[in-house]
Order: sequence, then C-alpha cells, then structure tokens
Amino acid sequence: MKALILSGGTGSRLRPLTYTNAKQLIPVANKPILYYAIEAIKEAGIEEIGVIVGETKDEVISALGDGSEWGVSFTYIPQEAPLGLAHAVKIAEDFIGQDDFLMFLGDNLVRQGVKSFVEQFQREKPNSLILLSRVDEPQRFGVAELDGGRVIRLVEKPKNPPSDLALVGVYLFDNHIFQAVHSIQPSWRNELEITDAIQYLVDQNFRVDAHIIDGWWKDTGKPEDVLEANRMMLEQIDSRVDGYVCEHSQIIGRVVVEKGAKVIKSTLRGPLIIGSGSVVEDTYIGPFTAISENVEIKNSEIENSIVLKEVKISDIQCRIDFSLIGKGVKIQKQNNKPKAYNFVIGDNGQIDL
Ligand code: G1P
Repeated sequence: MKALILSGGTGSRLRPLTYTNAKQLIPVANKPILYYAIEAIKEAGIEEIGVIVGETKDEVISALGDGSEWGVSFTYIPQEAPLGLAHAVKIAEDFIGQDDFLMFLGDNLVRQGVKSFVEQFQREKPNSLILLSRVDEPQRFGVAELDGGRVIRLVEKPKNPPSDLALVGVYLFDNHIFQAVHSIQPSWRNELEITDAIQYLVDQNFRVDAHIIDGWWKDTGKPEDVLEANRMMLEQIDSRVDGYVCEHSQIIGRVVVEKGAKVIKSTLRGPLIIGSGSVVEDTYIGPFTAISENVEIKNSEIENSIVLKEVKISDIQCRIDFSLIGKGVKIQKQNNKPKAYNFVIGDNGQIDL
C-alpha cells in the first residue's frame, strides 16, 4: 500500500499568508499542517509516499526532505497547474503502479488519524473507501448521498446539498480509480474532480464504501479553520518547560516553553506553546496561542492566536485575540505625534480595530 499527499494548490482563501507560504506548511500548535498527515500515514503503516507539489514546490521539498525524519520515503510529483484532485491521481499513476493507495489532502487534519480506515479498507476490500463527516455548510465541500450504507451520488460544492455529509480529504482506492480519472471530463471550474471520478466508480458498479467519522476533522481552507485547528491540537499538548521562565512569571494550565525561549515577568495561561528563541516579557499570553520561533512580545496581551516566526509585538494596550499573524510582522505602539495608525500591510491583509 502506498500513499499520495496533495500539497499543491494556491491557498487563495488564506491570503496574504499564502503569497509567501504554502498553505500546507502553516503551523498549527507550532507544527506544519502537513506534518500531521505524514505522521498519520506512517502510523497507518505506509512508508512509500508520493507528494504532489505545485508552485510552492521548493518550500515543500525543503520542509519535508527525503522522509527519513519520519522513517518514510517521499517521491515528489510536480503538477504543472492546479488542475484538480483527479488530475493529481492521473499524474501519480507511474508512482502508484498496481498498488492500492491512500490519498490525503495536505490541508486536512483528522484528529483520530487514519489507521483504522486503512485497516477497514484492507479487511473489507472495496474498490474505494471514502470518509464522510457531518458539517454545517455542506456547500463548501464535496457532498455524498447515501442509500443505507451505499454511496449513490456525489456532488462537488452543490448549491442545494443533498445531505450534510461532506467528503473528508482522505480517500482509499484500488487501481480502478485510474480508469475513472481517465474517463471523466473537467468540471465547470476546469478541474478534474475526484468527486466525479468516485461517481464514475459508483456508476460502473464498483464498490464504494463510506465511513462516517464522528471524530474531529478540519479542512484548513480559511483563517478561522486554521485557528480552530490550532485550538484542537493545543488541547492535546502536555506541559513541558525546557526554556527559561523567571520566578516572577506565572504559569497556569498546560504550557510548552521550548528550549531557548525566555519568559520574563509574564503570565502564561495554557494551553499554549512558545517556540525556541522567543522572548515574552511583561506580557499575558492566554489560552490557545501558538507562538513560533524567534518572536518578541513585550508589554502586551494576546490569546487564541497563531504568531509566526520573527514577529515583534510591543506595548499594545488592547488584547490581541483571534489573530493569525504572518512571519516578520511588527505591531508596536508609536508615542510620537501626530497620533495615528500607520500601516504597511500586504495585499488581502485584514485589520479589525
Ligand atoms: C476538496 C474536495 C472536496 C472535499 C474537500 C475536503 O475541496 O474537492 O470534495 O470535500 O477537499 O477538504 P477543495 O479543498 O479543493 O475545495
């Protein structure tokens, strides 16, 4: 059994962060989203992994390497343009060969992992096993209609969803999926949709099983999804203080302070994580906050947020909440007159005052 991770795409709904970063490498609880997928695949016993890469390929390859860090091997497969998930399957045909495979969308997080689904697929041997999850806004996803346990219809982002069962970005296939991806036509958005390829299997009377997951799942397509994923993953951390915390600081709840981080005269109310090389001084850091490496926060308050590398925040009087702050951003109070807000913000940035 092999695996295929999809790590292309443009991440348009996560701009401006994705102007300079692959969306799959945005950290959640200080770990790139994509790493969770790799860990889940390895835990399921799969070690040969094809990685579909697009315009952010250099960044993805330098973050993942050859796979030895996880005890797996990566084969990078470049996709010349985001032509759809079924197109990604098509270009992976040589890599997959005659094997069955697990396909994992690199921006999806499945808290319970995928081991039990891989085992179910291997035990029951359908031609495909898809995962479904009940959601509030099915029109944002591929949606399945079931009859009893059987999949009878799949529609991609329907205006009038036939059910609330969204397709989770984790799929298991045998070799018949290649027949499907070669037979379908591009959709209205000019993509070869995996949803249409699975519908082809259903129409040709291949066996497509569905498993409705009841655990937590997230497609991290939008900033609020990334923040929710961050909350969910921080829920699971264990306390660990490897950095320096001065005696005048207070720690409440589960807190990780990485080696080389410094906490001075501050209050940390977990769950939260502070990355190596970061300095937090005269500051309150509240629950569900992930501070990456080499960040400096002074005389400020922040909670429920993700702060990427090398950010500097100082003397902010109002608490920063529910924020996603990109690499190298500076947020500081100016004491000079005239009193005014001064902004240097990238395209598609958002400021709520
Ligand atoms: C893709 C699939 C969709 C699925 C979703 C899960 O959508 O096309 O069927 O429900 O992933 O994350 P996209 O993220 O490409 O809009």
